[in-house]
Amino acid sequence: MPKPKVLVTRLIPQAGLDLLQEMCDLEINPEDRPLTRAELLARVADKEGVLGQMADRIDAEFFEAARVLKGYANYAVGFDNIDVTEATRRRIPVSNTPGVLTLATAEAAWALLFAVARRVVETDKIMRSGTWQGWGPMQFHGQEVTGKTLGIVGAGRIGTAMALMSAGFKMRVLYTNASGRENQALKIELGARLVSFDELVADSDFISIHTPLTPATRHLFRADTFARMKPTAILINVARGPVIKEDDLVAALRARRIAGAGLDVYEFEPRMTAGLADLDNAVLLPHIGSATTGSRTGMAVLAARNLLAMLQGEKPENCLNPEIYEPGATST
Ligand code: DGY
Repeated sequence: MPKPKVLVTRLIPQAGLDLLQEMCDLEINPEDRPLTRAELLARVADKEGVLGQMADRIDAEFFEAARVLKGYANYAVGFDNIDVTEATRRRIPVSNTPGVLTLATAEAAWALLFAVARRVVETDKIMRSGTWQGWGPMQFHGQEVTGKTLGIVGAGRIGTAMALMSAGFKMRVLYTNASGRENQALKIELGARLVSFDELVADSDFISIHTPLTPATRHLFRADTFARMKPTAILINVARGPVIKEDDLVAALRARRIAGAGLDVYEFEPRMTAGLADLDNAVLLPHIGSATTGSRTGMAVLAARNLLAMLQGEKPENCLNPEIYEPGATST
């Protein structure tokens, strides 16, 4: 029997490719860049499986082009690039990679939080410029983290992990979550409180965003949100860029309406809003939240396993539309 044709839209760690190579006829995008839309649509025409990533838009047009597709595996936990409703309508399984990147991404949020609070990047630049004249009592005052209030917007896997890591800093933890139900781990371990978004915004010294991007969370942070934050507050985002209205953030940071921001993701990724890069009170990372060798390898293995299951007609571990496997489910 011929092996199923599979497209990997961007090079991933070898462990995932090894799993696929055995069972599939693989086409891998050899270049270190996303495929253009035209390339993607042309290359999926004869593929039964596609392993793609966040820059690939998996929508009706994609499914129309991918005529023999049996499954799509996303190399990411976030899946706002996938029209899951459309996939479900066509009974095509789609999957993501939760779990394996939780700790790496939570650690990245902490790296940003400390970098902004203690002005790490700004002062590193000063050292490198050779202009530093020696220690001074009035230099580079930042903020202590210990004992402060941490607000977690979206206490899912990554938000919960970040909050639990705060234990050593004896922080008061507030959180929101989509279900509106209390997070038992946070309650028991930290005495954390589930609060309204408004309370979290007004009371937190550090706010860390972990919510997925949905119509309800797009521009959750905008001018009127910044106006309600403490002027000393620091905002961290390792989730999705469009949760923050970036123009408004630049204005708030410039006017010192809030004290600082640490971003790993951008509203118009990979582009940054004009003015952001000029601000000393912003620390900017190139979407590296999950970029540890362990995490990225775990994502590759998980995405490959998900895709192999789909190609064999089985429900993948991390199925985003499990209802298509229910008896009697038909395409609409
Ligand atoms: C994800 O997985 O959603 C991240 O943004 C990239 O690892």
